[in-house]
Amino acid sequence: MRGEGDPAARGESERIPVCRFWDAALADMSATELTSALRVLGPALSWTQNPNYRRRPPDPTFLDNYGYAVIAGPSDGPPALVVAPSLALGVLLLGPHAHYPLHAHPAVEIYYTLTAGDWWREPGPWRSEPVRTAIYHAPNVRHATGAGAVPLLAVYLWRGDLTTHAALV
Ligand SMILES: [Fe+2]
Repeated sequence: MRGEGDPAARGESERIPVCRFWDAALADMSATELTSALRVLGPALSWTQNPNYRRRPPDPTFLDNYGYAVIAGPSDGPPALVVAPSLALGVLLLGPHAHYPLHAHPAVEIYYTLTAGDWWREPGPWRSEPVRTAIYHAPNVRHATGAGAVPLLAVYLWRGDLTTHAALV
């Protein structure tokens, strides 16, 4: 239930600290139709954070350098631009050198990278992935992500269990 203090409930988009890297992340993307679409969508996006991480941040700077925005998703999830009951599609943004440590979730996940970054999926090793790479995470597989010198921006798609948040493992 959204309260009166919720900007999304008032039709406003929500901003969090990591949004300061949005323009830099878009500038780092090679120009594509997707870049243009995200530039248009940007002001309408509502940014949010996993409540598990808000309760217990993995490191003191994490919440200033991490966030995601839902483009399409269920009506009972974070504010989405489009209601989609059976999938969650959005963007993940990490600040430069942010480390998103090992976590897992029951949903199937596909990322599509919009900037370069480092990715780990059990059993490893870390991989440096260029832009326009699809990354698959099977249900409950442990995975992690690291940003380099530039912000990390990636599109994500979840299917399956959309209600169970990722948890650090
Ligand atoms: Fe994930």
